[in-house]
Amino acid sequence: MEPIRLDKLLADAGLGSRSQVRQLIRKGLVTVDGAPAKGGEQKVDPEGQEILCQGEPMAYARFSYFLLNKPAGVVSAVTDARDKTVVELIEEPKRRDLFPVGRLDKDTEGLLLITNDGLLASRLLSPGRHVEKTYYAEVDGPLSELDVSLFAEGLDIGEPRRTLPARLEIEESGPERSQARLTITEGKYHQVKRMFQAIGRRVRYLKRLSMGPLGLDPALAPGEYRPLSREEVEALKREAAAPRPREGQKKEEAP
Ligand code: URA
Repeated sequence: MEPIRLDKLLADAGLGSRSQVRQLIRKGLVTVDGAPAKGGEQKVDPEGQEILCQGEPMAYARFSYFLLNKPAGVVSAVTDARDKTVVELIEEPKRRDLFPVGRLDKDTEGLLLITNDGLLASRLLSPGRHVEKTYYAEVDGPLSELDVSLFAEGLDIGEPRRTLPARLEIEESGPERSQARLTITEGKYHQVKRMFQAIGRRVRYLKRLSMGPLGLDPALAPGEYRPLSREEVEALKREAAAPRPREGQKKEEAP
């Protein structure tokens, strides 16, 4: 393996941003083969050298995980002939194997996980897992308690089956414009927009706030990203490993 910068190794391992890990190094908490590390730019061989942070051995992270606040105007793809892609926004680590976990529409903002961990991605996206995704939506026209019930019952959006029960939380309803949060457990194409369309509303603005245990970091402006912390990666792995009971089935089975 080629030597890599120590600050990249520590950041990829989930210990914090590059500037945060440089602080750890400055504080003398990182050692390379028993000697205090010289600085973030020091080149290390993670396979041939012993790298310890506060006494804990560091393995080079085979997988990278980034939380991106997707801005409007970029596409959820790896490459695109016309538009900038979400992967092109991740500049810091020169990994060529990153991809987005699922898709947000070009005009949708918010939380997008970018990784090279194919197994975790396929588990999180698997229809059987029912990972909850919460969106903030602004729609034209009012929203009512009837709409809350319609979303909870499942809507006909032109698919063979109705949508699974979804949680609509109205934040504000007005004659021209309303704001709401919507939590769904599926990921059909344009699902949120089509669900609002099914009740006669058009989505004017859409932002994803969370996916399973992962929430959008308020410190990230649209277009910014950061590596996931170790706790966040572990929480996602737990989510991916634990299938949820289908809420729709539970309802149907109730007397
Ligand atoms: N649903 C949509 O309609 N668009 C998105 O980008 C995500 C969910």
